[in-house]
Formats: sequence, C-alpha cells, structure tokens
Amino acid sequence: MLESIIKYILVPEEEIQGIVARLGEEINRDYADKNLVIVCVLKGSLMFTVDLAKKLNLVSEMEFVRVSTYGNATESSGDMKILLDFERDDISECDLLVIEDIVDSGNTLSRLVKLFKAKGARSVKTCTLLDKPARRKVDFVPDYVGKVIPDEFVFGYGLDLFEKYRDLPYVAVVSDEYLKNLK
Ligand code: IMP
Ligand code: MG
Repeated sequence: MLESIIKYILVPEEEIQGIVARLGEEINRDYADKNLVIVCVLKGSLMFTVDLAKKLNLVSEMEFVRVSTYGNATESSGDMKILLDFERDDISECDLLVIEDIVDSGNTLSRLVKLFKAKGARSVKTCTLLDKPARRKVDFVPDYVGKVIPDEFVFGYGLDLFEKYRDLPYVAVVSDEYLKNLK
C-alpha cells in the first residue's frame, strides 16, 4: 500500500537528523543572549519542532499556532485562517522563531511574520525544514532552511497526505500514480 504511494524517499531519516543537528547548533549560537520562544506551526511542523527543541541548550519556551490555507490537496491558495493562536503579555520581550515544515508559495510564513510583528514581538525569525523556492508566489526568504527541494509534493515527518502518514520518520515524494488518481 505505502510502497505504491512513494515515488522515492527524498530525505531519509539520517539526513533529517543531520539537518536538525546543524540547525540546532546555529540556533544555539544565534539565540544565546535572546529570549527564545519557539512557535510550532501545527500540524506539519510537530515532528521537526520536537526534534529541533531537543538539540537546543538554551532556556526557551514553546507556543503553538494552527493555520489553514484554503485550496485543494496539493495547492494552497492565498487565504489564511488562524485556527489556534496564542496571547502573551510579555510579547515585546520575546524573540520568536517560527518553525515550519515546508515553505511553498510563502504565504503562510510571510503572513505569520507580519502578524507576530504587528502583535509587538521584539524579533521574529523563521525556520523551515524544507524549502521549495521554485513555487514562491510572494517575496519571502526563511532565515533558517534545512534543505532546498525540487517542486515535488512530499509527505512524511509531519507532512501529510490527506492527514495521513505524518508519522513516517522520512520525507517521501508522492508517486505519479497516486497524483493521477486524484484528478
Ligand atoms: P505556503 O503557504 O504555500 O508556503 O505553504 C505552506 C504549507 O503548505 C505548509 O505548511 C504545508 O502544510 C503545505 N504544503 C506545501 N507543500 C507541501 C508538500 O509538498 N507536502 C505537504 N504539505 C505541503
Ligand atoms: Mg503546514
């Protein structure tokens, strides 16, 4: 079943863990004298956030947001709805690091950055496991990037295929047969 959905494994588990370790070192260095608040963008970045947080040797806090972008299965539209938000009285003393699974059009993260800046955060930066720059629709560059990938629909390690397969420890490319049957 799963074999017929996977075209190939794009980022194996060991590579993901190597990426997470590298990003963890960069964040440890950059946030040594800051007040780091990790913002996990549910549901996709759950796995990445948890693994990354374990590599940090800083005192940090965690917040969670959930957004929905309208569109079909493999294409997000420009509209974004906040399904879960957070409030803090000390936002002006928070250095937010927004953690995403993947940047595609750039809509989600560029809007979240604007929102958190408008709320008064001291600083807002972004960290994504995967980046598909070829698909960008808005001018957005993430601050920390795990891996730049080609324009393929991927799933696993938090990323879903109709809400399933988020638990896979690797990132895979969806097979052509599967995509064909969606049409
Ligand atoms: P953006 O707003 O277009 O940058 O899209 C970001 C969101 O679209 C991500 O948080 C994912 O939820 C979803 N997304 C984009 N590309 C993929 C993919 O290849 N697989 C699974 N989800 C994706
Ligand atoms: Mg997502």
